[in-house]
Amino acid sequence: MPHLTIQGETQLNGKVAISGAKNSALPLICAALLTDKILTLHNFPILTDTTKLLEILSELGAKTSIIPNQNGEFGSPQQLNIEFSNVISLLAVHEAVNQMRASILVLGPLLAREGQATITLPGGDAIGARPIDLHLKGLQKMGAQVEIIDGKVHSTAPKGGLNGAHITFPFISVGASEHLMLTAALANGETILENVALEPEITDLAHLLQKMGVPIEGIGTSTLQIQGKNGVPLTAASHHIIADRIEAASFVIAAIATKGDVTLTHINPILIKDFLDILSQNGANIAIDGHQIKVTGAPEYFKPLNIETAPFPGFATDIQAQLMALLCLVDGKSYINELIFENRFMHATEYQKMGANIDIQGARATIHGGAKLRGTDIAASDIRACFGLVIAALAAQGETVLRHIYHLDRGYESFEQKFAGLGAVMKRYH
Ligand code: UD1
Repeated sequence: MPHLTIQGETQLNGKVAISGAKNSALPLICAALLTDKILTLHNFPILTDTTKLLEILSELGAKTSIIPNQNGEFGSPQQLNIEFSNVISLLAVHEAVNQMRASILVLGPLLAREGQATITLPGGDAIGARPIDLHLKGLQKMGAQVEIIDGKVHSTAPKGGLNGAHITFPFISVGASEHLMLTAALANGETILENVALEPEITDLAHLLQKMGVPIEGIGTSTLQIQGKNGVPLTAASHHIIADRIEAASFVIAAIATKGDVTLTHINPILIKDFLDILSQNGANIAIDGHQIKVTGAPEYFKPLNIETAPFPGFATDIQAQLMALLCLVDGKSYINELIFENRFMHATEYQKMGANIDIQGARATIHGGAKLRGTDIAASDIRACFGLVIAALAAQGETVLRHIYHLDRGYESFEQKFAGLGAVMKRYH
């Protein structure tokens, strides 16, 4: 099994370029299903997750090419071109579907375009049950017949295609919001989506759909009005993917945990404004200059926190594990309430192996901080936990062996190169 050794007591210093957002790239790739013209995505992050989604689309008939950007100006210098003029299969059953929850976003667009689509039930991180009921109910409301047989979702549109609908989500789901936005773009007439997620990645998707010719009102609010194109393929478009706010926030935390001095580049600070406010109010020094964020700090100057995760603009569940690594080092008692996913404290056990003192009761973690962490043999349970464990390992005494590092490759572009550029010493064993 591949693993990483990480040298502890390392101060991170220097500049790091933030890549294009994984969680934007995935739904944006799926927009290619809505057109027979070329979709171009700039600032495209090459990750296992994005590459696998492209493999899924290729099996359906998409032609994809990745072109390096010569000027190297952006964190992710690549440009992705996708052309899906010829659908050769309506079965999304590539083994990658099983490994990545976001692959469900293929279903609605393919169904809206072709009138029929089948997908393997998607998998993903082991962070909770993660059902897809909101996705499927939304498609049904647009007239689709949906059946789950032998681990596959089979869907059929009515004659004449899917119809626009008024859909109110009973609770906020990022994926279901994106899925029904994509599907509504090709449906007949207007779709109104209420209680839509407010994540910046949703806004990014809405902007791309607008460029592809879909009128959308309410962008940036929880109610979207989408004028579907009645099955007429959308136009060609070119789009710059927003920066990865989760990667950015993770490097900010790493800088503080390692008493470092790190400047993030290629990041619009607005994307993580509330997060930066919390950190600066609690003892970090944050200086913003255009699209750069300079962070200095140290656990000994940081105050304990009481945080609960929530949909945007609340505290992101995707930064919870990384924050916990820092709070293990901060004197005093901190609390984290995980309110999005029911099983997202698996990293706590690994921090405990390193010497942290954490009590978990249901969705609430109490972190008795001020621990002196020691490097040991640990394993990551999901993408975000993996970055959190790297932070703990860099701050710990001695060397850490980190296992299940495929999670890093799923979510963070050029992970080791970026950390090496900040002075970290890591070695990958294959
Ligand atoms: C997306 C992000 C993920 C992030 C999460 C929450 C991507 C590719 N992934 O995941 O990184 O952690 O948002 O910010 O963008 N739920 C249901 N039924 C559904 C859909 C969701 O019960 O049909 C539940 C989930 O189990 C979870 C909650 O709703 O408890 C939120 O999930 P959701 O916002 O849908 O997360 P994802 O889109 O999977």
